[in-house]
Amino acid sequence: MTTAGLVVPPAHPVHAKPLPKWRWLPQFFANPFTIYAEESFQALYGQADALGVKTLSINDPIGIDHVMRSHMTNYVRPVVQSRLFRPVMGIGLFLAEGEVWRRQRRMLAPLFTPAAVSDLTPHFQSAGDMMLNRLSGSTRAQFTDVFHRTTLDAVLKALFSLPADESRAGMTVMARTYLEGAGRPTVLDAIAKTETQFGWAFGARKRFRSGWTKMVDDVIATRKAHGGDQAHARGDLLDLLLKARDPQTGEAPSSDEIRDQCGTLLAAGFETTSRLLFWATYLLALDPAEQDRIRAEIQAFPVTNITRMDDLAHWPRLRNALLETLRLYPPVAYVVRKAINDDVIAGHAITAGTEVWISPYILHRHRKYWENPTAFMPDRFAGIASPWTSMDTFLPFGAGPRICIGAGFAMVEAQIVLASLLSKYRISLEDNKPVLPTFRLATVPDRDPYFKIERL
Ligand code: HEM
Repeated sequence: MTTAGLVVPPAHPVHAKPLPKWRWLPQFFANPFTIYAEESFQALYGQADALGVKTLSINDPIGIDHVMRSHMTNYVRPVVQSRLFRPVMGIGLFLAEGEVWRRQRRMLAPLFTPAAVSDLTPHFQSAGDMMLNRLSGSTRAQFTDVFHRTTLDAVLKALFSLPADESRAGMTVMARTYLEGAGRPTVLDAIAKTETQFGWAFGARKRFRSGWTKMVDDVIATRKAHGGDQAHARGDLLDLLLKARDPQTGEAPSSDEIRDQCGTLLAAGFETTSRLLFWATYLLALDPAEQDRIRAEIQAFPVTNITRMDDLAHWPRLRNALLETLRLYPPVAYVVRKAINDDVIAGHAITAGTEVWISPYILHRHRKYWENPTAFMPDRFAGIASPWTSMDTFLPFGAGPRICIGAGFAMVEAQIVLASLLSKYRISLEDNKPVLPTFRLATVPDRDPYFKIERL
């Protein structure tokens, strides 16, 4: 929709008044994005009690800083997250807490420095080329699958120097089936007091865990047999992981931990980035003029010219469009913590066990922080370096010491893949029906539209 020259993508209606609990609770499980009232995008704090769990929603940078930085030791991932993510991520970084988390983060940090990510650019270019080969000869595409395969190619190459062959492409199917099925939160997850409670009802998660673990073990075995990345001095991420030592203690990760770090990086690395690419493509199909402007900057500095991360500075509009996509459709729409002890957050007293909800989806559309919050306006990020760390109301990658370790990886990958696509195709939508965001552990489209892809 275009309003007074602004491109405003379709959105769920915002209720004039908060919904009564009997309506919002079931709707929350179906799709939380449908429950919000105007007040949700105006308030700084909101307290609620759902299924016996006290919650505090925070849209205030001071409160966010308290939970994510200054008092972070009082806040841990709630049980529901371990229940949903453990089958995929095991004992890897995402679910680790306390001293174990600190040790793992120290060990993984060198894999994601700007220099290490810069070295991965050829992998992202090759994933982009493989995507173009797959699209070759087509005049239409459904981008959910296209981007899933492409981001899986990118992360498999970066981690293991392996492309996604047919068996590994099964990973996307497995991950998607999990997100759509066994990995969806249920009421039992919401009321469970421990990670294993009501285990009888979740046999599908155990089966997924053993299939996924086997798949990751197989990929590591294939990679070891194949000999790794001879072409790059640093090797791939698995090389770095195998050599990783805790800089403070000299300790090496166990083989289970290496397997689960690979599972964590694979899962965290392809689902989120593929959703970012989907929504960016959708927004640029709604805004063909911006799409043309971005294409012009890519034509002036073609994808093949990119040899290091700094070269991406030639594509400022593309970067801003991706940032604006992360604002409107943050792939991780909720960052949740549970308080270990009673606390006071910027004057709001909470008791131990309270869940603190920080929602990039709400924060990024908050009426107090953004001009025309529902419009697609990439220029709002012009000239702002790393806004995901420099702006306290823009948190697509989380905040504080637990900020996404793969943020730089994702941004470089997304720029190269989207540039590859736009340099060869003009993209538009086949129909005018709205595509709306739905939450399935990530922000996904409610349908998988066909796009027209016109070869340039
Ligand atoms: C657009 C893409 C991505 C988005 C939007 C995203 C978002 C996030 C967010 C919001 C968090 C913090 C969650 C919390 O504090 O509860 C996070 C953590 C994490 N992300 Fe990402 N991520 C993306 C891509 C990646 C990639 C490419 C990787 C790895 C290759 C990755 C690996 C991780 C890991 C391991 C953590 C846990 C960090 C820790 O707890 O110390 N992510 N991500």
